Amino acid sequence: MRIAFYDTKPYDRPSFDKYGEKYGIKFKYFETKLNEDTAELAKGFDGVCVFVNDTVNAAVIDKLCEMGIKLVALRCAGFNNIDMKYAHGKIHVFRVPAYSPYAVAEHAMALLLTSVRRTHKAYIRSKDFNFSLNGLTGFDLHGKTVGVIGTGKIGKVFINICRGFGMKVLAYDKFPSNEICDGDAVKYVELDELLQNSDIISLHCPLTDDTHHLIDGTAIEKAKKGVIIVNTSRGALIDTEALLAGIKSRKIGAACLDVYEEESDLFFEDNSNRIMEDDTLARLISMPNVILSAHQAFLTEEALENIAETTVQNIVGFFENKPCPNELCYYCGFVQDCKNGKCF
Ligand code: NAI
Repeated sequence: MRIAFYDTKPYDRPSFDKYGEKYGIKFKYFETKLNEDTAELAKGFDGVCVFVNDTVNAAVIDKLCEMGIKLVALRCAGFNNIDMKYAHGKIHVFRVPAYSPYAVAEHAMALLLTSVRRTHKAYIRSKDFNFSLNGLTGFDLHGKTVGVIGTGKIGKVFINICRGFGMKVLAYDKFPSNEICDGDAVKYVELDELLQNSDIISLHCPLTDDTHHLIDGTAIEKAKKGVIIVNTSRGALIDTEALLAGIKSRKIGAACLDVYEEESDLFFEDNSNRIMEDDTLARLISMPNVILSAHQAFLTEEALENIAETTVQNIVGFFENKPCPNELCYYCGFVQDCKNGKCF
């Protein structure tokens, strides 16, 4: 089996080589992202393996199908970059639903702690033997209220971490899971109540039509003054212009971002020698109370191993015609749950 592997980074290869060899799959690594112009590279391959910023729209799906490709193996959990409706009945799409919820949740807390305790500023100062503490005053997380939007795998781990810090948790989810509730310490509330009462709001829901710009000007208006927004989920959950306006008006106390709605042409690449054309991002990064990492939350050794192993197992299972819980369906979400016979 030969798979065209798009948007390759050096840290992808060791684990994919390891599991590819183990399961008899040969990966051809392309640095370029998958889009209409690069789909041709997959000619002669059995499938494509893609990441968060590859484009799998109708035109790309048509090109892949013309070349006889039947499989798109996402090596990530989110699938907002795939036109799932158009893919239905044409090409099979698999994902890695969980590779390390700990990696993402721990990164969310790392960003939050950095912001709250100014460790990023202290690090730079001490490198210059500047041991002044002026401007480094933080606040205790203990006793604060964190609003967690999306209480799936990552949200749950993040809630546990926050509880370890002695924080109170307000949760919101379209499909609540009562197992996380614990009296007043962790309880589900409506979104407005979460917005109005949270000192920190952390986003852990997927990007869908429902959640696009979930945090917009109206939501920010409802939030507490000084609220800290943490987003390790998907950039377009936040209306960035509204976020900037909230920071400028001092309504938002700080933003901790691992994702950005226009990240696809910028993140995962070294842009340090280029003129930054994206004024919104430039303005965001210039803010002293914004911490930005470039979609790094997943990047741990454990997660990379799990991503490679599950992706390879998805590919092998597909070619062996085995039912797979990681196959996605536009109509019923996950093929294994299909009750209406609409899946392939
Ligand atoms: P999950 O599927 O386990 O949990 C998502 C939760 O969001 C579910 O409980 C679901 O009911 C809830 N949800 C769905 N629609 C909602 C809505 N309209 N309003 C409120 N809640 C809603 O997913 P998981 O593994 O926890 O991942 C969450 C997100 O994290 C992914 O969708 C992905 O975008 C992001 N992610 C980011 C990574 C990074 O490196 N920054 C790495 C992995 C995931």
